[in-house]
Amino acid sequence: DGTTGSIYASPGRINLIGEHTDYNNGFVFPGAVDKGIMAEIKPNGTDKVCAYSIDEKDYVEFGLKEEDAPRASWAKYIFGVCREMIKRGVDVKGFNTAFAGDVPLGAGMSSSAALESTFAYALNDLFGDNKVDKFELAKVGQATEHNYVGVNCGIMDQFASVFGKAGSLIRLDCRSLEYQYFPFKPQGYKLVLLNTCVKHELVGSPYNERRLSCERVAEVIKAKHPEVESLRDASFEMLEEVKAELKPEDYSRAKYVIGEVVRVLDVCDALEAGDYETVGKKMYETHFGLSKDYEVSCEELDFLVDVAIDCGVTGSRMMGGGFGGCTINLVKEELYDIFIAEEGDAALIENAENKGASFFALHAFDTVEHDAGVAHALGNRQTALLQHGAVGRARLDGHIAVLIGQLGEQAGGVTAVQLLSGQVACFVPGSEFLDECLVLIVVEQ
Ligand code: GLA
Repeated sequence: DGTTGSIYASPGRINLIGEHTDYNNGFVFPGAVDKGIMAEIKPNGTDKVCAYSIDEKDYVEFGLKEEDAPRASWAKYIFGVCREMIKRGVDVKGFNTAFAGDVPLGAGMSSSAALESTFAYALNDLFGDNKVDKFELAKVGQATEHNYVGVNCGIMDQFASVFGKAGSLIRLDCRSLEYQYFPFKPQGYKLVLLNTCVKHELVGSPYNERRLSCERVAEVIKAKHPEVESLRDASFEMLEEVKAELKPEDYSRAKYVIGEVVRVLDVCDALEAGDYETVGKKMYETHFGLSKDYEVSCEELDFLVDVAIDCGVTGSRMMGGGFGGCTINLVKEELYDIFIAEEGDAALIENAENKGASFFALHAFDTVEHDAGVAHALGNRQTALLQHGAVGRARLDGHIAVLIGQLGEQAGGVTAVQLLSGQVACFVPGSEFLDECLVLIVVEQ
């Protein structure tokens, strides 16, 4: 109909320390990053959602009732957010949407939370007069995971995506939801993510089993110490006291978690004192715990951490849920080039032997602030809407289009072509749903 929709964006996250502590009511220490998901959304006056994933090149329609759940896994997140917003009294109606992102999928950087909070914000803004508060928006994302995706995750990812602030990490107490921003500008160090490119899928992964292990141990301890509601409240002494009653596996899981809750607080103290050596030491401890006791690492992650040790990197560990994804590394600036080169060489050699990680360096990134309901630039990117007719064309002087797959590539019937002089033309060869959907193109300056 020629009108444009609104644009919403939410960031992915990193986590300095505090892994698998959130659902144990402990502390986490995440920050939102300059990579995220961006969506254009326009109410369509029906009760149907028409959604196009630019990255997956997939189009899905679904209704808004509980029984209307779509089959495509990416669409379940959007459907879940709609349902959870409806449960909170928001009168969600049909809309058209197209979305894309630059958080690497399955890299442990919470692309799914970014998607959830993008839509939670949007629906609150478009249909709810922004009456749902930010805490609840984070919970909408978490409930989507629990009820529509099947991952019994904690609150960390959605919280970080909604509450992120530029230049800061957030220490979050996952029991009280009290949080504190920690300015994070390490002098002389860089934070670097290395991606194993082993895609982690928490759906159907042992993630939910880990959570159950923790809850079983907390129950056993609670029988002797009624004040213990979760592993957050437990000590190593309490754990030893009930060791004989536990499966060895559950014991190891709990041992990791109890140590990790304390490590987050230690790292906060060390950061305040500017003591990065301690921060790094704790990161390695976390990795070994996650790898040996919690058993959520994989060969490729362990490999990247081993190379970090060999290079003399200050701290390195797997990040996020595990079973693939990235390592997060605290690297002295003067070591950065050597580290990247050595990781690259080592990965190449390992690949030649066909057993190691393929990897790429995600350069050091910026943390970002999530601006409620407003389209904001992700890094140095901006969005532009290319309207279409039979043949659409938009001028983006001075910009270079980078998304919609590759330039010249077809995405959902749309071909984006870069013209001389930096203009971009967008050709829509008569695709049905695109009559109603606008095309979102992300441009880089
Ligand atoms: C995933 C979950 C989070 C958290 C981390 C591990 O990212 O979504 O809730 O449990 O794993 O720290």
